[in-house]
Amino acid sequence: MSGSSFGKAFQITTFGESHGKALGVVVQGCPPGLPIDQTIIQKALDKRKPGQGPASTKRKEPDNPIILSGTFEGKTTGTPIMILIENKDAKSKSYTDIASVFRPGHGDFTYQKKYGVRDYRGGGRASARETAARVAAGAVAQLVLDPHDICIESYTLGLGGISARSFDREAIENNPLRVPDMAAARAMEEKINEVKDQGDSLGGIVEIRAKNVPPGLGDPVFDKLDGEIAKAMMSIGAVKAVEIGAGIKAALMTGYENNDSLTQDGFESNNAGGILAGISNGDDIIVRVHVKPIPSILKPQKTMKENGEEFSISTKGRHDICAIPRINKVCEAMLALVLTDHLLRQKSIS
Ligand SMILES: Cc1cc2nc3c(=O)[nH]c(=O)nc-3n(C[C@H](O)[C@H](O)[C@H](O)COP(=O)(O)O)c2cc1C
Repeated sequence: MSGSSFGKAFQITTFGESHGKALGVVVQGCPPGLPIDQTIIQKALDKRKPGQGPASTKRKEPDNPIILSGTFEGKTTGTPIMILIENKDAKSKSYTDIASVFRPGHGDFTYQKKYGVRDYRGGGRASARETAARVAAGAVAQLVLDPHDICIESYTLGLGGISARSFDREAIENNPLRVPDMAAARAMEEKINEVKDQGDSLGGIVEIRAKNVPPGLGDPVFDKLDGEIAKAMMSIGAVKAVEIGAGIKAALMTGYENNDSLTQDGFESNNAGGILAGISNGDDIIVRVHVKPIPSILKPQKTMKENGEEFSISTKGRHDICAIPRINKVCEAMLALVLTDHLLRQKSIS
């Protein structure tokens, strides 16, 4: 299957399916001598793993990473790093009844049309289980960013149509949905419970910020930094739109309002989201990701079987009600991967 690799100087290739034996990633281009151990990767995976928060699936995966290559005596060696994550709690039985059914909102129909065969158990390769491999790779990328003090954070701005109305940094770590507004977090939780009872699901909005990114990252013309970030985020299942800086609001402003004035102390505003002409300008990189509702829902819905017969499906099994907040860590990882790739690419010319 092509399309499983991402990045040029810092390249990852992910492999594995939701209900296979294991999934994982091969990271190539990581510089030698960086301190690495299993706990660094485990810490990142713990923030994505299922079973946490009101919106999460009850599938219990420990997501213990096994580093198979590319490290020696606690340091990276510059050779390919392979990380394996075993699937421990796949319950494939709930999928046998719908093996020949195309689940609405999923890749079942399109994978069948493309390959003529598909692993129907848990969405196979299209499953969000694959994002565990990205998070593991993101933790390796962060090792390259650390000496440059480049840090990446994410928080939830919206869920089920409810928006965060204030920004309290402390609140982010004090509610399971990672919302910077406690009142909004409570309202979102209520909404999740309400929709769960109706057998339905929800979407939302996540903002990701990278601080201390040096100016000069990003390759014009086709590898513009904003283009690369958009691709990275859109490659995550359920992501339907990506904004940089002012994003879609820029289209409503005048040039005078949207331009970020330059002063000796830096930019006066950051509508550009830290990127001008596809190159980082030294300001915070600001990305917003819009996530669709989880497609697997209990509420019966019309669909079709492989043989063309119409069918009413109610998707059972263990599913998230919303990809937020598990997707937050995946978005952080994808931004870390893009920035690391471009940092190494910039080093090769400067
Ligand atoms: C972190 C995360 C968790 C997800 N959990 C589920 C889930 O439990 N059940 C489900 O049906 N879809 C889940 N999805 C969404 C599907 O993977 C995705 O919608 C599907 O593969 C179709 O791809 P598309 O939405 O990009 O078209 C999740 C996505 C992410 C990023």
